[in-house]
Amino acid sequence: MQYSRAKTWQILREHVTGEALLKHCVAVEIAMRAYAQKFGEDPDYWGAVGLLHDIDFEKFPHDHPNHAREILASYGYDDEFITNVESHARNWEGERTLLQKTLLAVDELTGFIIACALVRPDKSLDNLEVKSVMKKMKDKAFARAVNRETIVNSAEAMGVDLKDHIDFVTKALAAATRQPEYQELPLVS
Ligand SMILES: [Fe+2]
Repeated sequence: MQYSRAKTWQILREHVTGEALLKHCVAVEIAMRAYAQKFGEDPDYWGAVGLLHDIDFEKFPHDHPNHAREILASYGYDDEFITNVESHARNWEGERTLLQKTLLAVDELTGFIIACALVRPDKSLDNLEVKSVMKKMKDKAFARAVNRETIVNSAEAMGVDLKDHIDFVTKALAAATRQPEYQELPLVS
């Protein structure tokens, strides 16, 4: 099986057309790649899990991620890969691996960080400070769809300090905005 970005991006585009969801998948991919590098794991594999984690969401928003298996199996992804994708269901009952914990820990956080950058005057991730993200976490009216509890609990489950986690993911997203493969769909625009 190939986990190259070009291949997984092509598969994602066959199932997701909405720009917001595509951006979300890309942001999760970037964070997963960054953590894979930090943990000495395979960035292409972790990135592919991130990019494809919401593959069934557009077509089955009320029954997600229960259709990921049939979609991903049709492309030849194996049981382990598909289970990794399924594991980000909030009510998933298995004991999560490091990859699976990381997926859950970046799923809500990436969108929240981007929302914080978008309300800055420069709309940039580069100057976004951890303390500003932490402050916005307490502001219930801001990005109210983002579940703060999931962000806090998933970081704890992953074994990372929340501030370090926010800093790491913010820097990974900011760095990616300068890479050629992420110019097609700018994360903050
Ligand atoms: Fe997601």
